[in-house]
Amino acid sequence: MPLRLLGLAGSLRKASLNRALLRALGESLPEGVTLEIFNGLAALPTFDPDITDDPEAVTAWKDAIAASDALIIATPEYNYSIPGVLKNAIDWASRPPPKSPLRGKPMGIVSAASGISGGMRAQYHLRQVLVFTNSPAMLQPEVIIPRAQERFDAEGRLTDASTRELLAKFGVALVEWIGRFR
Ligand code: FNR
Repeated sequence: MPLRLLGLAGSLRKASLNRALLRALGESLPEGVTLEIFNGLAALPTFDPDITDDPEAVTAWKDAIAASDALIIATPEYNYSIPGVLKNAIDWASRPPPKSPLRGKPMGIVSAASGISGGMRAQYHLRQVLVFTNSPAMLQPEVIIPRAQERFDAEGRLTDASTRELLAKFGVALVEWIGRFR
């Protein structure tokens, strides 16, 4: 059965390594599985609980999640945690809880960082956030990519075979993971 994944890179940077990682994941998925990268992160306003009518950009974000079979988040690590823009996007999508498209949505987490820890601390912070949104995030394989700038070329294309192999395994596991929630 065809599966549609939605990818979100938690970075506004044009040359984001995390967006490059998502693109590489999109090229490494099993037959019939597609990945669309959400490009409206910068358009999301700062979350304010007093705004009770969703702005257009928020509706687009929530609708894209709802239409997907799983949401894949590629998170940078900022100061040992997830970037504010990513938390902001999750906060928008989480309200109101009974209608949140994140509830029960299968998720995948990947990260790329320029340092040696590959964003793992951000991944674990993200997992904590996803407990409250009730979003089942796949556990393994973990895709934690250290010194990521050495694995992509100047155009953001993945050049590292071992990372490509890991992404392929992640894609296979994800199909099985999504199947558990159908
Ligand atoms: C970073 N970076 C970083 N890296 C890391 O491994 N641990 C960290 O805690 C931080 N903290 C941090 C804070 C801020 C404000 C910035 C701008 C950067 C480096 C970060 O991993 C690197 O810039 C990545 O390339 C960011 O991801 P994108 O934008 O390439 O997807």
